[in-house]
Amino acid sequence: MDDIRIEGGRPLGGTVAIQGSKNAALPMMAASLLHRGVSVLKGCPRIADVFCMEEILKKLGACTWWIDHDLYMDCTNADKTEISGTDTGKMRSSVILLGALLGRSHRGCMGYPGGCVIGERPIDLHLTALRRLGAEIEERPFFVAACGELEGAEIIFPKKSVGATEQGILAAVLAAGETSLVNCAREPEVQWLCRYLRGMGAKIAGDGGDCIRITGVESLNAGNMQVPPDRIVAGTYLCACAATRGCITIENPPEGELDAFLEVYRKMGGQYHIKSGKLLADGTGICHPVPFLETEEYPGFPTDLQSPLLAALVTIPGKSHIMEMIFEDRYKAAYEMNRMGAWITVAGKDAWVEGGYPLHGCTVYAQELRGGAALILAALAAEGKTTVKGYSFIRRGYEHICEDLRALGGIIVKD
Ligand code: UD1
Repeated sequence: MDDIRIEGGRPLGGTVAIQGSKNAALPMMAASLLHRGVSVLKGCPRIADVFCMEEILKKLGACTWWIDHDLYMDCTNADKTEISGTDTGKMRSSVILLGALLGRSHRGCMGYPGGCVIGERPIDLHLTALRRLGAEIEERPFFVAACGELEGAEIIFPKKSVGATEQGILAAVLAAGETSLVNCAREPEVQWLCRYLRGMGAKIAGDGGDCIRITGVESLNAGNMQVPPDRIVAGTYLCACAATRGCITIENPPEGELDAFLEVYRKMGGQYHIKSGKLLADGTGICHPVPFLETEEYPGFPTDLQSPLLAALVTIPGKSHIMEMIFEDRYKAAYEMNRMGAWITVAGKDAWVEGGYPLHGCTVYAQELRGGAALILAALAAEGKTTVKGYSFIRRGYEHICEDLRALGGIIVKD
């Protein structure tokens, strides 16, 4: 049930369409709580994390339904304010519901967030932002947050955080007066959330830059937006193309959101161009290792593509060096790749790759979302049969990775 079987050793080729973005959809779902009526997300990915967020909305009193890939959320009666630790523990993004609950009901009580085990993942910045807007929050054994009317304020983040930036935005759009969020994350998903909220009538400026300014409004209208294509899924498939020296076309590439990744792809010897809105990638000439690369906040190289890139680097003869700067424990997949014959040495933030050793199939274990996907890529590049255990981690973010890779010529089945 939880296994994927792959027979590797053949280059990928063909065309693939990219699912809607997980990290864009989840905060938009939280934002939908801020309107007492029906909001819709079109092209929403049907993945485990979205289902989990949908379940929480339902438990808060929302009524939800799907028409194909369009997710409708009727939040008219979503007036409950408690979310159990069992539900919040299923994913990291549950934490941003706290800002939405405070904005809507001036109260929220919830358990600690869960999510992929890729580092410590504190939430201090989230809580500081909410407190600055006037919330009182008790932290143990679960969060109990309450406020009168939230009041706009200046919030200076000591460190860039995607989730904390989104938290601040969700709480500030209905707060009285002006809020400035300083040192914000610039990730595209923050901008998509702002676009969605602006469509609902929120007054937000400056997203995509370091400082976001929000003027609170009394109420918000219904949300209605097309979820953008998932840049991390697109990057994962490009890494699969690189690892197998294939040639693929991406039907709906995330426009302008993959630049840092594509620069590395080109330095490795890959080629790509955009034609009629499609991205044509040719990985047949990939042969250069990457002497040094660090993961960074956007617009730098995304941490979520670090493991998928490793799967390509282990196939390229020569030395590559990666530094993981965002999360402390994001190399679990490297150890599994070594069991397939890769030669990766990990020490703290650093991973040194001695690429070009032949990979061979064996049984490996996915332990988190992106690392799990990376193991599938390594298996596609390996000789022989691999079993990747732990599909439940992978389906949190990839809607149909097996079907997509099969359509590109990979031999891959789910048990
Ligand atoms: C989001 C993405 C995730 C991506 C990550 C970084 C979603 C649902 N997930 O996660 O896929 O890998 O951005 O691009 O959008 N931190 C603190 N205190 C806080 C919050 C964060 O110290 O209160 C630290 C984290 O431990 C981490 C860094 O800040 O070291 C960045 O984390 P953050 O940007 O918040 O990541 P997420 O929003 O959890």
